[in-house]
Amino acid sequence: MSVAAGIEDQTILAFDSLAARYDDLFTRSMIGRAQRGAVWAVLIDAFVPGSHILELNCGTGEDALFLAQHDVSVVACDASERMIETARQRMQAEDPEAPIQFELLPTEHLSRLRPKELFDGAFSNFSGLNCVADLSQTARDLAALVTMRAPVLVCLSTRFCLSEMIWFVLHGDFRKAFRRSSGVAIAKVGDFAVKVHYPTLRAVKRMFAPSFLLRSCRGIGIAVPPSYLEPMIRKYPRVLSVLRLIDRGISRLPWFRTIGDHMLLCFERVEA
Ligand SMILES: C[S@@+](CC[C@H](N)C(=O)[O-])C[C@H]1O[C@@H](n2cnc3c(N)ncnc32)[C@H](O)[C@@H]1O
Repeated sequence: MSVAAGIEDQTILAFDSLAARYDDLFTRSMIGRAQRGAVWAVLIDAFVPGSHILELNCGTGEDALFLAQHDVSVVACDASERMIETARQRMQAEDPEAPIQFELLPTEHLSRLRPKELFDGAFSNFSGLNCVADLSQTARDLAALVTMRAPVLVCLSTRFCLSEMIWFVLHGDFRKAFRRSSGVAIAKVGDFAVKVHYPTLRAVKRMFAPSFLLRSCRGIGIAVPPSYLEPMIRKYPRVLSVLRLIDRGISRLPWFRTIGDHMLLCFERVEA
């Protein structure tokens, strides 16, 4: 581990190695689109046109490009040089005038960001923050970067994913079924091992206090399964529409919201 950076070297190497394939594997997958669509519905309510926001762990820039289309300007950061390169290439090809600034910056180094003015909000999608060991520090750094009352949206992998448990138990793979349960697991990404943290809703709420108050939480990918089940969903595309509808109905219910593949937490910056 690189102690100075506070981020695992393997994590950066893993995402560097994934960058060129990430959009094919996840962004453009049916499951990826379904889960992201559910997040976008909330994003578009939270970040009004004209606002200026900070995105953490932006990957290949899919969300930044989406927000830019809705007149939201974005400073989008990621620790992986290849992800940032891919994001910049996508912007050049898809929307060269988009109000997006891509920055190579690990979340652990957020305090090095020196914006001219505070952000109107912040956002992290699809588990980038599960790779960060100390979310309390991230919350403190974010508190110094956003305006009072700013929305901060965080989409994390959950500790307990029911569809994952059922799938792997049915396939006799108990290790995979319960891989998240201890709170930390090693995920293999190509040749690299990524340390992934699975904090509970209560733990994230505690780590974001006192500068952030949890306003809402919803499940993302409850009936819609994790993306590794894409081959099965492709065989039965109509099933996905039904699963999306189910998710829409249950995503805010107390128990269901934390047993999906991801949970989307909406915080508000408040006086500490
Ligand atoms: C699963 S991808 C999600 C990417 C993007 N947010 C999306 O919605 O498609 C996780 C991203 O987090 C980034 N990441 C992982 N650890 C990080 C860290 N400590 N600091 C900044 N970025 C990190 C990875 O490089 C990768 O781009």
